[in-house]
Amino acid sequence: MTVETTAAQTAAQTTAAQTGARTTTAAPTGLAAPTTGTGTARVVRRVRLRRDAGCDPAPAAARTVRLTGPVGSLNLPDLSAGAREAVAALAFAEHTEDDLGALVAARDGESGLLRWQLTFRRLGMAGMLEHSVHRVTGAADEPLARLRPIGRGAALPGPVPDPTRQVKLSRFATAGAEDGALVIRAPGSALAVELGTGAAGLLPALAGWTSPAALAQLPGGLTLDAVRQILRLFDVAGLLAYGSAGQEPEASERRFAQWSALDLMFHSRTRRPSTVAGYGGTYRFGDRFAPEPASPPPFPGEKVALAVPDLAALARTDKPLTEVLEQRRSVRDHDEQSPLTVDRLGELLYRTMRRRQTFTGGDRQEHADRPYPSGGAVHELEVYPLVTECAGLKPGLWHYATDRHELELVAEPGPATAALVAGARESALMASDPQVVLLVTARFGRVMWKYETVAYPLILKHVGVLYQTFYLVATAMDLAVCGLGGGDAADFAAASGLDFFTEGTVGELVVGSKPMTLRQDVGVPRREPKR
Ligand SMILES: Cc1cc2nc3c(=O)[nH]c(=O)nc-3n(C[C@H](O)[C@H](O)[C@H](O)COP(=O)(O)O)c2cc1C
Repeated sequence: MTVETTAAQTAAQTTAAQTGARTTTAAPTGLAAPTTGTGTARVVRRVRLRRDAGCDPAPAAARTVRLTGPVGSLNLPDLSAGAREAVAALAFAEHTEDDLGALVAARDGESGLLRWQLTFRRLGMAGMLEHSVHRVTGAADEPLARLRPIGRGAALPGPVPDPTRQVKLSRFATAGAEDGALVIRAPGSALAVELGTGAAGLLPALAGWTSPAALAQLPGGLTLDAVRQILRLFDVAGLLAYGSAGQEPEASERRFAQWSALDLMFHSRTRRPSTVAGYGGTYRFGDRFAPEPASPPPFPGEKVALAVPDLAALARTDKPLTEVLEQRRSVRDHDEQSPLTVDRLGELLYRTMRRRQTFTGGDRQEHADRPYPSGGAVHELEVYPLVTECAGLKPGLWHYATDRHELELVAEPGPATAALVAGARESALMASDPQVVLLVTARFGRVMWKYETVAYPLILKHVGVLYQTFYLVATAMDLAVCGLGGGDAADFAAASGLDFFTEGTVGELVVGSKPMTLRQDVGVPRREPKR
């Protein structure tokens, strides 16, 4: 019996065992390049503890061991000497199940094997094991595929597929480079598959209907045994679709057909916490970058101080909430005879967005308080009024400084701002240019410094909250307002000079003075605006 542990791993294992220290399983960095060898190729399956799990204490140091992964943990109480040795071996290298059994039997005797089988099953049920398939030719050992738990849930590969079974890659599967390996994932699966060079040819072949037997015929390819072992890992990771031409649930059933791969991946990543590590506020950049301050750096251009509205007077004269809610409509008509004024624009911004307070949280990040709510009080949204027609304010792209209640000129009118105005006008199907487009941006770092997988959906939720606040305040002020469903963040980057990856548009509204008589229907926009 050989346990394939390197000298360095054995040394680390011994030290950890002696000190009783918590050990983190050494991560294989991707699928290593094959070593060369001659002879008949055979397929070998191996297992090891998932690379992101920790062992506390080191298995050799105590009878009860606690394994902790990023999204769950597993207690292994009262382990026999053989089982402890096997768990320790799994923490440092890949082993065949036979080798592990032999290791246990050598310590505990044959009678220890049944208990070990139960422990091994528990490891699989808890998603603590990585399974790999290797092509071994003489001394050469080539990893072909590795099943990698990435979330919480069982990692228990099922039976190998029938050689003639019709199969193809799920259209929801996505592939990307991660930690030096090609990793294929399916939305909603807590398991991913790393693919080695020797098996990468399967991917294009699996783009259409095929079978394990057909895949084994690929030139320079894999044996049927290897193909079936690899597809077994694909299957448990949810990467395969079954059926045949014309019988494809993923394409024909409405509940699947309506999803694009990226949308379903985004939805699953952000709404199924058990399938990903890094859900919620993980502060993964806490040590690498400083938190971004609540206020963005000021723009160097012209500034316009805005009048501060008298909130006490407004509280006495405003329409009641119910009236505002019931009167709220999307209005896409602006009164050209009597355009919006800078004071009215200032009031709208003040009542919706101004910073009421700044405070520092326990996480060192500056938080803000504004009239609308924001997850974690991060308030990453900024507003850039793009002015075409506003009495008292020259046309151009302005930034609203929420802390100083002033406008800062970002850009004079030009081709880039014209593209943004035209885009908004087209989205709202307006007969003429909107008086003001409120471009809503997110300073992504404010959210992404703290939150991981939920960061982007959180931003979109904030956009919704802000839209409704703008709608209600504009209705109370008898202004015309309409939220828009799309915009071009590249156009905004060109107009503002801001870096697309640092701050970009995530929403936009058109706002203006409301005409006494509307030329266009409120509610759903019509293709042919009334003249
Ligand atoms: C997120 C969002 C996106 C919208 N996108 C557009 C749009 O691109 N163009 C448009 O004319 N109206 C848009 N609207 C306005 C809707 O068409 C409008 O809310 C809907 O027809 C109901 O009418 P109401 O707002 O008057 O109740 C949007 C509204 C929201 C909340």
